Amino acid sequence: MNRKKTILDIQKMKADGEKISVLTCYDYPMACIMDSCGIDVILVGDSAGVVVAGHENTLPVTMDEMVFHTQAVMRAQPKALVVTDMPFLSYQIDEASARANAGRLIKEAGSAAVKLEGGANVAGVIRTIVDMDVPVMAHIGLTPQSIHRMGGYRVQGKREEQAEQLLDDARAVEAAGAFAVVLEGIPSRLARRITDELSIPTIGIGAGPSCDGQVLVIHDILGLCEKYSPKFVKKYADVKTVIADAVANYITEVKEGSFPDEGHSFI
Ligand code: KIV
Repeated sequence: MNRKKTILDIQKMKADGEKISVLTCYDYPMACIMDSCGIDVILVGDSAGVVVAGHENTLPVTMDEMVFHTQAVMRAQPKALVVTDMPFLSYQIDEASARANAGRLIKEAGSAAVKLEGGANVAGVIRTIVDMDVPVMAHIGLTPQSIHRMGGYRVQGKREEQAEQLLDDARAVEAAGAFAVVLEGIPSRLARRITDELSIPTIGIGAGPSCDGQVLVIHDILGLCEKYSPKFVKKYADVKTVIADAVANYITEVKEGSFPDEGHSFI
C-alpha cells in the first residue's frame, strides 16, 4: 500500500483474515526503518518510560514525553497507522482532561489514534474521546498502569470469573466505540473467545496466536533491553551485542590512535 494506513484499513484486515503487525517505536530512525519494512501500526507506547527512560514501570510517564516521542516518530512520515498511548493520569481524572489530552496527541503530536488501558471502567472515557472523532484503541488484561492492583505483571483471566470479567470488558470497549483492542497477558483460549466474539480487531501481546494481530516492544525483539524477559517475547536479533562490539572497537581505536585515520580526516 502506497498511502497512509487508516483505522479502516486495520479493521478491514480483520474482515479479510489478514494478520495485523504492530511494534512499539519511540524515535525517528527506528520509525524510518520499521516503516520501510511495511509495519501496519506503530504504537508510541508508554513502555518508553521503561525501555528508553529506564523507569521501573510506566507510571511516571508524562504527556509531554508522549508528545515528544510521537513527534519524533511522525517526522519519519510513516505510512503505518500511528497510535499513541495515553499515560497514567492523562485520562483517569475526568472526561474533560481526557478529551484535552487525547486531542493534544492528535493536534500537537500528530498521532492518528490514542490507546488507553482499562475495560468497562473506562468505557465512558473511550466514548467521550471517540465522540470528538479521535479513534481509540483499548487495552485490557494485563494493563501495566494497574501494576499495583495486580501485584506485579501477572497473567490475567486464568480463573473463570476473571475470564468472564475480561469478556465483559472486551464487549464494553467495543460498545463504547474503540476501533481495536490490545489483549495483554491472558490465556490463548480466552483471547480466541474474545477475538471470535468481537467485530473489532484484537491485537495480542502474550495472548497467543488467535488474535487478529500481534504487538511487541521493539527493544525486546532487538535484544536491547533485558531488564524483564517475559515468556511471550521473541528475540529476533541481538543488537545489544552489535552495539557493544562497535563501542568496544571505537574505544580501542581511539586509545591506540588508529582512529581517526587519513580517510576520516580533512587535509
Ligand atoms: O506501552 C506499550 O508498549 C504497550 C504495548 C506493549 C501494548 O502498551
